[in-house]
Amino acid sequence: MRLKPLVPLILKQCPGASTSVSGWVQSCRKMKNVAFIDINDGSSIQSLNVVTTPDKVAGIQTGACVKIDGKLVESSGKQKLELQAENISIYGNVGSDYPLQKKYHSSEFLRTLPHLRWKTRHNAQILRTRSWMLSRLSQFFDSRRMVQVNTPVLTSSDCEGAGEVFELSKGPEFFGKNAYLTVSSQLHLEAYAAALNRVWTLTPAFRAEASDTNRHLSEFWLVEAELAFIDREQLIGVCIDMIHSIIPSAEIAQGLLDAKRSDEERAELETRWDWLGRDWPVISYTEALDLVNAESDLRPLKWGENIPSLHEKFIAGEIMKAPTVITDYPLSLKPFYMSKSSETTADCFDILLPEIGEIVGGSMRESDYDTLLKNIKASGMSLESIEWYLDLRKHGSFPHGGYGLGLERMIMYACGLDNIRDAVGFVRHFKNLPC
Ligand code: 4AD
Ligand code: MG
Repeated sequence: MRLKPLVPLILKQCPGASTSVSGWVQSCRKMKNVAFIDINDGSSIQSLNVVTTPDKVAGIQTGACVKIDGKLVESSGKQKLELQAENISIYGNVGSDYPLQKKYHSSEFLRTLPHLRWKTRHNAQILRTRSWMLSRLSQFFDSRRMVQVNTPVLTSSDCEGAGEVFELSKGPEFFGKNAYLTVSSQLHLEAYAAALNRVWTLTPAFRAEASDTNRHLSEFWLVEAELAFIDREQLIGVCIDMIHSIIPSAEIAQGLLDAKRSDEERAELETRWDWLGRDWPVISYTEALDLVNAESDLRPLKWGENIPSLHEKFIAGEIMKAPTVITDYPLSLKPFYMSKSSETTADCFDILLPEIGEIVGGSMRESDYDTLLKNIKASGMSLESIEWYLDLRKHGSFPHGGYGLGLERMIMYACGLDNIRDAVGFVRHFKNLPC
């Protein structure tokens, strides 16, 4: 089935070609003898410039959905071609209360219009970038012969053991047990890795964290990988290669730059991409604490406490000036499934980005039955809900590790966003479920 060409392809056609375009009016200017329409069909950041007579644009407002038939002619403007309209039909005009006029709208204002904000150039380009990243991730994992699997959203356990699960009120009545929305696919992914060796999944994760911040969502997407017969260094290497594979390509980058408002914003964005491409230092939690305590005016951290996001950003952005891998966190801070790297530390890593903080959490997994059983008991989890997971250590237990990348935090960084709420289509966060 051949579909009609979209704007990027139309702009590659020859002058004189007859064509038709359907899309939404970005602007409509009427002069005495001539009228101009910018029409965007959503397929790229490029709009097509249309030239016509004032009578043909009567009543057409910014935001209207129209179909324009005409002929491509050479243009003296920025675009080499423009469309000389012969016929314009309106699919749907806009009401007088259409809120997206052709002017600057702040992200805060646009968030009040969750169903309409994707019509703006910048927001639409974020979604196209997101789609491009997902396709690149698939290619990356394919190239490593990793199998994509699907994991359940309804679960009977709290994988991270942090008590931040959304519980289903119908769980006991319907399933005969407590049921939750998943916080991470990791445990199920481990079962797949025990059979398929190297696996990955892209799944929504749900966390009932009462955190009203610029980097927390209640529903977000996790890219998770689990690999058998691997050590931590190799695992970190795979994860870094994966992130390198989604640094915006030239075309995606140009769209993002075009959608920014100032040279300053564009320069900041290019710096972010530049930093992603650098060598990433790997330091231990203990070293990170020593560095941040010595080199920042931030509250000093004591060994054993979590690294707050302010400190995370300082470590990556001000001290290391690069994405930074932190290893060997205190065992007491980490979930039951991690193996040890020493008596007091977990064989784990987090990846911190400048301006964002943590974007990846990963670890080697405890593969010894007795040790895992001890960890589960010590964590206070219900053994019954996790018995199947423990069982994996009884039948062909294997060395393995994995990680999870928060997709929206990655998008936030790669698109130069201040707030994670602009990296996802329909936002769910603490005290907010708009539609
Ligand atoms: O560090 P986390 O909790 O790790 C896990 O869930 C592991 N089970 C993953 C694994 O090993 N398979 O979460 C992973 C990442 C974080 O680094 C962060 O980027 C993102 O998920 N994340 C959030 N993103 C948006 N909103 C939230 N509330 C998030 N919580 C975590
Ligand atoms: Mg984490």
